[in-house]
Amino acid sequence: MQEFQYCVPTKIIFGPGAEEQSGRAALEEGAKRVLALYGGGSAVRSGLVGRVQASLENAGIHVSVKGGVQPNPDISFAAETVSQYRNTSIQLVLAIGGGSVADTAKAVAIGLAGAEGEIESVFQKGRRPQGALPVGAVVTIAASGSEASPTAVLSDTETHEKLLCTDSRIVPRFAILNPELTYTTPPLQTACGVVDILMHTLERYLASQGRNETTDALAEGLLRTVLRYGCICLECPDNYEARSEILWCGSLSHNGLTGLGRECAFPLHALSHELTAAYGLPHGMSLAILWPAWARAVEETLAARFARLGRSVFGTAEADAAADARRCIASLTAYFSALALPASLSQSPAGLVPDQDLRRFAANCTRGGGILAGPGSLDFEAVLEIYRAANTGLSSACGPF
Ligand code: NZQ
Ligand code: ZN
Repeated sequence: MQEFQYCVPTKIIFGPGAEEQSGRAALEEGAKRVLALYGGGSAVRSGLVGRVQASLENAGIHVSVKGGVQPNPDISFAAETVSQYRNTSIQLVLAIGGGSVADTAKAVAIGLAGAEGEIESVFQKGRRPQGALPVGAVVTIAASGSEASPTAVLSDTETHEKLLCTDSRIVPRFAILNPELTYTTPPLQTACGVVDILMHTLERYLASQGRNETTDALAEGLLRTVLRYGCICLECPDNYEARSEILWCGSLSHNGLTGLGRECAFPLHALSHELTAAYGLPHGMSLAILWPAWARAVEETLAARFARLGRSVFGTAEADAAADARRCIASLTAYFSALALPASLSQSPAGLVPDQDLRRFAANCTRGGGILAGPGSLDFEAVLEIYRAANTGLSSACGPF
């Protein structure tokens, strides 16, 4: 894949050494004072933070650097960062890392543009942000697509909640994508990222009523690409072509392109946020664990979509659509297992979860008596069944596909 630039509306700066353009990209946004955030240290060890800082300083930009963003980032870190930098005239917040850093940068951008308590008001009370400073992202892991999405996801470790804000003003102005920066992504994180990218397109694809052939074709091409190159990234972590494809798909998967012309409720994401908030599981891992049970619960409702997905992406050729659908669900389940992801909560770091927790998750997702937003009209009991099957693994709970 060759270098290129793409802007809808995030300007994508793609290719080896792309981080050297951080300074120019920030200057184009009119920023003379930048706050650069990073995570637990991988970006410092690789020398990336130093290179980005040098690029910014060479462009005449004053840089403040702060690390320490944790995976599934806590709201308190973002709030503390806003207090620390409130009176420092920061004009752009730059994330150097994955989705956790990007989402924290977005929250800080909201906080710095608003009054005291803005982060809590937006993320805990659901109020519209007063504004947001521009955000940029230097991406180190192909996964969340936050570098091109209008969403920020924080965690509240006290209440065990995932807190979301979606607002067009926090879509990053630019995203720097150098596939080589992702070579060091640990295998588990690589696998979780692949699942997340697949799910961002799949949740949109499955929501379709089949009236947008171009969007379907884009989605199917993207899914085939991710399935193919995801495995190669795990086998050969420094395969440039594979890392390129996955990184670009990660951004495309969550910038709206693969869902154009359709409404999407992201039910699997809603189910998974309960698990990551409660047990700190990687986001992609919880999606993979939930997939077989959720897919089975909506298999009839979405039979036509699963069948099309099976034929176009997994090469199924069964006798009828229902069999294609079933084969499709089983194929993706097998793919996740080939990525060495746990098939159940009991096999994950969460361990076997008490039923009372599962009931709480189901109540949260159905807002106490309603239905889970998305296909299948899944009520509390149906959602509880999904969590129970995910707890022990579908094959032991319901028999194999
Ligand atoms: O913190 P460091 O030391 O950098 O290590 C990170 C972290 O431990 C490591 N890592 C990342 N790039 C690396 C690397 N290690 C070595 N080399 C590299 N090149 O990977 C670990 C996970 O990082 P994280 O940023 O948490 O991963 P990801 O990008 O998957 O982001 C997950 C977060 O994004 C949210 C999730 O809820 C979760 O909080 N999401 C955000 C979305 C959005 N804003 O649109 C949508 C998604 O659906 C998702 O909900
Ligand atoms: Zn996701």
